[in-house]
Amino acid sequence: MSKYKIAWLPGDGIGVEVLEAAKIVLDALALDADYIHGDIGWEFWCKEGDAFPQRTIDLLKNVDAAMFGAITSKPGKAAEAELVPGLKGKSLVYRSPIVRMRQLFDLYICLRPCIAYPGNPLNFKEGINLVVFRENTEDLYSGVEFNTVPKELSDTLARLSKPFAAFKDLPEDQYAVSCKINTRKGSERIVRSAFEFARRFKRKKVTIVHKANVVRATDGLFLETAKEVAKGYPEIAMDDANIDAMTMWLLKNPFNYDVLVAPNLYGDIISDLCAQMVGGLGFGCSGNIGDKLAVFEPTHGSAPKYAGQYKVNPIATILAAKMMLDWLGETEKAGKLERAVAHVIKEGQVRTYDMRGTSKTLEMAEAIAEKLEVGVVIGTQ
Ligand code: NAI
Ligand code: MG
Repeated sequence: MSKYKIAWLPGDGIGVEVLEAAKIVLDALALDADYIHGDIGWEFWCKEGDAFPQRTIDLLKNVDAAMFGAITSKPGKAAEAELVPGLKGKSLVYRSPIVRMRQLFDLYICLRPCIAYPGNPLNFKEGINLVVFRENTEDLYSGVEFNTVPKELSDTLARLSKPFAAFKDLPEDQYAVSCKINTRKGSERIVRSAFEFARRFKRKKVTIVHKANVVRATDGLFLETAKEVAKGYPEIAMDDANIDAMTMWLLKNPFNYDVLVAPNLYGDIISDLCAQMVGGLGFGCSGNIGDKLAVFEPTHGSAPKYAGQYKVNPIATILAAKMMLDWLGETEKAGKLERAVAHVIKEGQVRTYDMRGTSKTLEMAEAIAEKLEVGVVIGTQ
């Protein structure tokens, strides 16, 4: 029996291609693992009315970790129209399997390291090394949303809100409500994870991202909880910034920042910005981490326009595999893998189209696999 059981969820589009690339590298590292395929994505929505079938949920209950590629998703009504005849007419609402997976398995940390590997032609500036901790289960992603606002809710909102509130005199179908729900527990554990990370890896500062001056209740709670947690880590500097200002400051001087922690939506936004500063979607990797399970993925989607061409950059997914190795405690293999990625980037011989090269997805993976024993030492470990 192998040491690890890994759920392998390619999804669709380029998800299939980038996971194939990651497997080349994991095999070259001789990770002692069984990889068990799981169905997820568009195809299963069309065939079964469920993009995240129960059998895949059951699989995830029995593995050490999972690698996920990407899936195509389309908004509710459009999705329904494409259902196969057997399912047509059933009123099924498309729900994002990834958001569901995060909530079902309480994968409360979304960890997104953004490192400018030296020599990457897409680096905004050399030397950027940011780590984003995004809360992954609540906030505006709580799933409490109303396209047509129920009468009891509209009455309550009208009664409790300010006289000048824009929606007040509108009929219920003329506005929509998405609830932003943040809990103390959820805020506490994501901020603590960020500080624990900073302590373990000797990072200097944690920045709390919020909009507490306007969104007073929920972001106020987040900020207040964060300040409490910070008291337990006196050796680590702490500051905070509004999400809007944060995007400007990050571009102006990314070197002022180190570890960033944010509620779900702001974390999503800020991590895309950070990923872009170190090469864009081809480099953005992500870990959805809970106490019992962790699911690793590139942050990009299924890129339908490139699907089947094997030309996209697999580095985001290969770095996600590196994160998985760290999570499994395979730090030596993780180090080898990251050094090999850094080597190939620095050498500049093999580059995919986004890096202004002509190499294909699997060529990049093979080049990285070949450098596992000789990769350059970099200052990120
Ligand atoms: P996308 O991330 O799939 O692609 C946008 C563009 O980014 C691509 O056209 C390509 O130019 C570039 N790109 C993406 N990955 C790349 C890579 N590895 N190497 C080089 N360039 C890359 O976003 P888009 O087009 O908005 O969404 C396509 C589908 O993916 C939609 O159905 C969307 O809902 C879904 N999606 C799924 C996600 C997931 O599975 N986690 C996340 C984001 C979107
Ligand atoms: Mg995103």
